[in-house]
Amino acid sequence: MSSDIPPVLSTLRHFLAIQDTSPEVLTALIELSIRRKIQFRRGELRPMLQGKTLAMIFQKSSLRTRLSFETAMTQLGGHAIYLEDHQVGVATREDIRDMARVTSSMCDGICARVFGHEIVEKLAAHGTVPVINALSDWAHPCQALADMMTLQERFGRLAGLRLAYVGDANNVARSLLNACTKLGVSVALASPAGYQIDKAQVDAAWPAARETGASITLTEEPAEAVADVDAIYTDVWTSMGQEAEREQRERAFAGYQVNAALLRRAKPTAVVMHCLPAHRNLEITDEVLDGPASIVFQQAENRLHTTRALLEVLLGKPNPG
Ligand code: CP
Ligand code: NVA
Repeated sequence: MSSDIPPVLSTLRHFLAIQDTSPEVLTALIELSIRRKIQFRRGELRPMLQGKTLAMIFQKSSLRTRLSFETAMTQLGGHAIYLEDHQVGVATREDIRDMARVTSSMCDGICARVFGHEIVEKLAAHGTVPVINALSDWAHPCQALADMMTLQERFGRLAGLRLAYVGDANNVARSLLNACTKLGVSVALASPAGYQIDKAQVDAAWPAARETGASITLTEEPAEAVADVDAIYTDVWTSMGQEAEREQRERAFAGYQVNAALLRRAKPTAVVMHCLPAHRNLEITDEVLDGPASIVFQQAENRLHTTRALLEVLLGKPNPG
């Protein structure tokens, strides 16, 4: 089965940010994930990571990400070790450079969920094994990969679709913007003043958008962003690490709820997306989250299929270290 991995994926060393990943690699990862999902359901997966170990360094809580990495390693015949920050002390008990070097000497890959994005970059720079960003304050590339896979499954294409992101311009929004523009999906971002995407991020996304013909629209008006789109996406207003700002954020985002009235402004065939966990009846209503337009739980399941494909590609190679 490994021979059917597209050659372009042999160029992939780490998966830290969508911004660093080429459109060809993203497309190949999505296609591989869809193929492996079908093979998985037929019981045709090969345990191709037998004897391999993934170290999972987590500074923050997780349901989907932890489940997807650990389950994928089990399904591929390998093993995963979950290391919480209070056990290993990222950058406190020891220097990240030493942690990277030691972990690389025993394990075949590292996935890390961290506050500062520079931590995953340092793990990659100082270790000798592939590093996967399992969410940083700046990016959530594994989520964006599963989101693109889910849209591809739903619409049978990505190029030419239109997506509106309504809410906080956070890690999920940044990765989504990069994935969409690289794959030809036009994006409209609706966020209140003070919570909008950095100009530098938008400037960095424009070259890919020009290449694929995607547009980028920034607005403060959710109704404007969702007009006639194929997909509406939202995420929590208060991300992990921002809990002290919760009240202030809930006030700022009060007009940004994804609800039935907003959904009616999108195309009749539009889907609703959320990376989860959701704060029900804050950023999204029960009615929409549980309604017929929601593909939220398909997104969540696809975290497993995309993660397994990533692990197969990155850990399936001989260890250069
Ligand atoms: N979407 C996502 O990453 O979920 P968890 O935080 O539960 O892993
Ligand atoms: N933006 C959220 C995503 C959780 C998957 C957070 O960082 O908490």
